[in-house]
Amino acid sequence: IPVDPFDLVVFGGTGDLARRKILPGLYRRYVAGQIPEGSRIIGSARGDMDDAGYRDFASEAISEFLDGTKRDPQSVARFLDHLYYVPTDARGENGWPDLAKRVRADVVQAFYFSVAPSLFGDLAERLHRHGIAGPEARIVVEKPFGRDLETAKELNATLAEHFDESQIYRIDHYLGKETVQNLMAVRFANILFEPLWNARHVDHVQITVAETVGVGGRGAYYDTSGAMRDMVQNHLMQLLCLIAMEPPYRFDPDAVRDEKLKVIRALLPAAPEDIVRGQYRGRTGKGSPKQASYSEDAENPSSTTESFIAMKVHIANWRWKGTPFYLRTGKRLRGRASEIAIVFKEVPHSIFGDEEGWRENVLSIRLQPDEGMTLSVMIKEPGPGGMRLTEVPLDMSFAEALGEDGADIPDAYERLIMDVIRGNQTLFMRGDEVEAAWAWTDPLIAAWEARGDKPKGYDAGSSGPEDALMLLHRDERRWREIRE
Ligand code: BG6
Repeated sequence: IPVDPFDLVVFGGTGDLARRKILPGLYRRYVAGQIPEGSRIIGSARGDMDDAGYRDFASEAISEFLDGTKRDPQSVARFLDHLYYVPTDARGENGWPDLAKRVRADVVQAFYFSVAPSLFGDLAERLHRHGIAGPEARIVVEKPFGRDLETAKELNATLAEHFDESQIYRIDHYLGKETVQNLMAVRFANILFEPLWNARHVDHVQITVAETVGVGGRGAYYDTSGAMRDMVQNHLMQLLCLIAMEPPYRFDPDAVRDEKLKVIRALLPAAPEDIVRGQYRGRTGKGSPKQASYSEDAENPSSTTESFIAMKVHIANWRWKGTPFYLRTGKRLRGRASEIAIVFKEVPHSIFGDEEGWRENVLSIRLQPDEGMTLSVMIKEPGPGGMRLTEVPLDMSFAEALGEDGADIPDAYERLIMDVIRGNQTLFMRGDEVEAAWAWTDPLIAAWEARGDKPKGYDAGSSGPEDALMLLHRDERRWREIRE
């Protein structure tokens, strides 16, 4: 879809996200021909720098965060010509008249607030007072979007003073992941799955987002956050919504977001015994590299923040009553593997008698790494040995199935930034969605805090605490293996 020329201002333009994701991502879209000539990318932060300095900064970011096959010096040089820098002080008056001169009124305007949420109000106010943001301007904000319902409401109210909801793009980068969007294609572009997509046929659903990284370097933030606020309230919740929602009447921003909101509102509060929190222990180094424990990575060594959470969740509606959704995410686990598994029920009656070899059908959707889908099906074991059943995977790796197009999957940020420029809010969270998600998580957090619950220890490199395994054993189910 062609894009109109635009001015994109990145506040926090010299920050970590700009370096790691925004600038390399924009370069990739430039190479893909999606950044029309005449567009400008304007970095802004407090520090002094000129356009040339910012171009050097961007050039280094591209070299550092894109591997050699994804960049070449000529196109980097041409891309850099679109970059500018204007210092501004979010809390003061410096720089704003200069920014007003740089940002044009007659092109698409986007302002990326890649700064602490405490500055959102200041930026929004100055963009208006200095006549920079026109009536169609778009703003992009990042998580954490509040740390509870109250702070999220405040942020929404602050933004609403200056911008209409249709102008606000709240990023949840999981929604920009290729496979996450594929989830909607799989569900709503095939007749095959939807008839089975309900409590009558689905035994349970597992959503796992396993990471190998720890919280080292982010301890100060993480101590006050934890896996529930950092991952469940947003990323896992979004995945759950896409799996559980009713078919929207159209692939249209509000139609999709209305359906997701209904799912969040239908979530029952999770019972205390259905939540397992964990914190990683270190490894001393015998036989494998030494790894720090959470308390060593944390700012506050006695922090009781969870670096792992597993929970059983129920959705109280006609489609899902009786089908539990098990969610699990954690740091320092045995692999970096994110997967959604739809585990189907048993056949109503086995005509083969012996059920030895029988396994349930599982549709597994791999978000990362090795994006793809596997449907496990039962077949007859080959050979003359009679009717013995065996399970085989119908396996599809997107990279293999789609050839070059599949191998070069754009990063979530690339897609999301271009959606902002195109004015498509489908993959962004609406204010009411974010608030509903906090309204569900807040009482769960308040309850474990009131009980003084401490997270269970788990070994770095494991699959999480023992109690998380029990959560499914109790229900005579098993977690899917976290691949290394
Ligand atoms: C971020 C969290 O939103 O997502 C991090 O704050 C987490 O703690 C990250 O590591 C995971 O993202 P991805 O894309 O690497 O799965």
